[in-house]
Amino acid sequence: MSHIAYVNGRYLPQRDATVHIEDRGYQFADGVYEVFLVWNGIPVDYGPHIVRLQRSMAELRMREPMSAGAMTVVMKEIVRRNRITTGIVYMQVNRGVAPRAHPFPNANTKPSMVVTAKAFAGSSDAMAEQGAKVVTARDIRWERRDIKSVGLLANVLARQSASEAKAYEAILVTADGTVTEASASNAWIITADKTIVTHPTSNAILGGITRSTVIDLAREAGYKVTERPFTLDEARAAKEVFLTGTTTFVMPVTQIDDQPVANGSSGLIALDLRKRYRNYMDALDAATAWNV
Ligand code: PDD
Repeated sequence: MSHIAYVNGRYLPQRDATVHIEDRGYQFADGVYEVFLVWNGIPVDYGPHIVRLQRSMAELRMREPMSAGAMTVVMKEIVRRNRITTGIVYMQVNRGVAPRAHPFPNANTKPSMVVTAKAFAGSSDAMAEQGAKVVTARDIRWERRDIKSVGLLANVLARQSASEAKAYEAILVTADGTVTEASASNAWIITADKTIVTHPTSNAILGGITRSTVIDLAREAGYKVTERPFTLDEARAAKEVFLTGTTTFVMPVTQIDDQPVANGSSGLIALDLRKRYRNYMDALDAATAWNV
């Protein structure tokens, strides 16, 4: 079955779906995106993903291509037409098509919107049991990492360095030694006193939707969660390290560069949080899951 994409008002086989060469997404990375998971037919944290998309557009002073309600119709249709039971939906909104010039185009320029979907089960439990290796990479991104912009070259370079080292992810470290997040997930540590620590939301990281849900689940379970920056040295000395993200869920990290984390096996708290996150996904309510 060929994949069906939504492109500016039309549903097309993906191989026939095209965008204009003067789309500003193509020329300037002048666009924003979201990725959300559909789990057993139900979207996970759909409302927060749409709210974050709207925020990204507002921060870049982009016009919204359509209302949240209309967007939801498109998302449901893409899920239906691609027969997705468990998979990911990718949506991208660009500022639109205009002759190449740096300033914003004419206010009447229509934003472009593309939505695709594919079957994908997320990170495997087998891998989580075993634990993931990460590498470190210098965080060379711009100062508005809170915006989910398609300008992802720094993330791409970091992830490539992870791939070349046969690692799962690259955690990003600033010049002063702070771990901000990872190339496509948020980073966490658990300290010797069992406090769960992750970077606070600010312009320095993407405010992950999974991150927020995991904070809530951890607190409900009675864990102490502190949002503060932590350093690479702290991560290397941590009791546990883990990652969260839409496709990552909760992934224990057992190796940073060539050094094991603690005794080198998956952390028990991280595995417990992964189980809680899975239970949360399993308990999602189909009747309200598409609400924004
Ligand atoms: N990435 N940080 C960065 C830089 C990300 O790109 C992502 C998500 C996250 C986790 O956010 P969330 O929990 O909302 O997925 C953190 C998506 C999955 C991607 O680019 O494919």
